[in-house]
Amino acid sequence: MSITSFPEGFVWGVSTSAFQIEGATTADGRLPSIWDGFSADRAEACDHYHRYPEDVRLMKELGMAAYRFSVSWARIFPEGHGKPNAAGLDFYDRLLDELAGAGITPYATLYHWDLPQALEDRGGWPARDTAVRFAEYAAAVHERLGDRVDTWFTLNEPWVAAFLGYGSGIHAPGRKSPADAFRAAHHMLLGHGLAAQALRAAGAEKVGIVLNISPVMTPAQVSDFGRELSEEDAAAVARIDALANRQFLEPALRGAYPAELLPVIERHAGLDHVHDGDLETIAQPVDLLGVNYYTPLVVQAQPSEPADAAYPGSEGILFCTIPTAVTAMGWPIVPNGLSLLLGSISRDYPGLDLMVTENGADFVDVVTGDGIHDVERISFIEEHLRALRAAIDDGARVRGYLVWTLLDNLEWADGYQRKFGLVHVDFATQRRRMKDSALWYRDVIARNGLAE
Ligand code: NOJ
Repeated sequence: MSITSFPEGFVWGVSTSAFQIEGATTADGRLPSIWDGFSADRAEACDHYHRYPEDVRLMKELGMAAYRFSVSWARIFPEGHGKPNAAGLDFYDRLLDELAGAGITPYATLYHWDLPQALEDRGGWPARDTAVRFAEYAAAVHERLGDRVDTWFTLNEPWVAAFLGYGSGIHAPGRKSPADAFRAAHHMLLGHGLAAQALRAAGAEKVGIVLNISPVMTPAQVSDFGRELSEEDAAAVARIDALANRQFLEPALRGAYPAELLPVIERHAGLDHVHDGDLETIAQPVDLLGVNYYTPLVVQAQPSEPADAAYPGSEGILFCTIPTAVTAMGWPIVPNGLSLLLGSISRDYPGLDLMVTENGADFVDVVTGDGIHDVERISFIEEHLRALRAAIDDGARVRGYLVWTLLDNLEWADGYQRKFGLVHVDFATQRRRMKDSALWYRDVIARNGLAE
């Protein structure tokens, strides 16, 4: 059998997040996060808080080298400040010991959207103080777990947390204020910089950030990316790219907001919240950029179009549907988008190490007597891995790939109906069953490559 192989040492694994799998929302001193009451479904999730030994065993059976998880801030600082809650840290201590026993390398994310409600009550991310609290929290977690975690990701997908949480309101805390969204975005970036400084000072080996970078294109470019654009469409693409991608990439990696974005921020939020020195603080050295990719953003100029609430400043731009296959979320499947974005990040930021920290798909799974034959998920992952391999061939320094996700779980505002897992979870019994995709991924890992 011939094989499309990956570089030696390429890191294979999965990603999860605390709120989506842990459950146990009142255990050991944890108080609510902004998501506890927001998602209509009960937050027992996968009861991973109690079942983590079984979940680590599953990962070991699948041959995972890496596990990216997030720490629940509301377990560590239930009230948002004060002394860290030792009982909350104990859980991650147990988890890390279990991972070490299984030979799995942990990648810790500090903020995967579950802000302690106590901090939201004091202004949330639009308040500058939250960035300071975040750095204190990062330091406290590192102090207890730093002996077993080498790679720390500060934030996960700050665009989503800021603009869906505070702009369109479809995520917690559900505010609908463009001003709050831009301020939240800035304070998340500032929190990233302050936390990165604190982690580094405490001896952290690697510090990174995870961004949801979406290649932005017009409908015609989906099949022919090299295609020339009209001036209007090129401007529409550039504006959405600035809002969705470069708003985070440029401050974190170059210490500046994109010049064309500043008037948009100023119009919606003023610029008083951007203090002298903030951008220097934000631009801490990044050892590893985590990239989450699911689907591209497809747009074209349309003068009469009102702004999309998730993208304040996007008036005159239409978000397009395209005639491709979609996942059950309705997200167009465009594997080539992954090559495009890895290629463009590598060109814009030469020498930067990248990791695909999330990629995967929601499909309707059918549980049969002889298993869960999720062929669509397998081909989704396979096609994206081929695209990733093409980017490596073109020079992108991609160090690893993490599937979203290990377990079917609580998909934020969409609840339990969405199925992204390699492992099926029956939420009535908490029984875990490997899907065919899990077994297929195990084979990919074992041969460090794809069968031709
Ligand atoms: C990205 C987020 O980080 C993750 O929490 C979410 O479940 C997936 N996207 C799928 O929507």
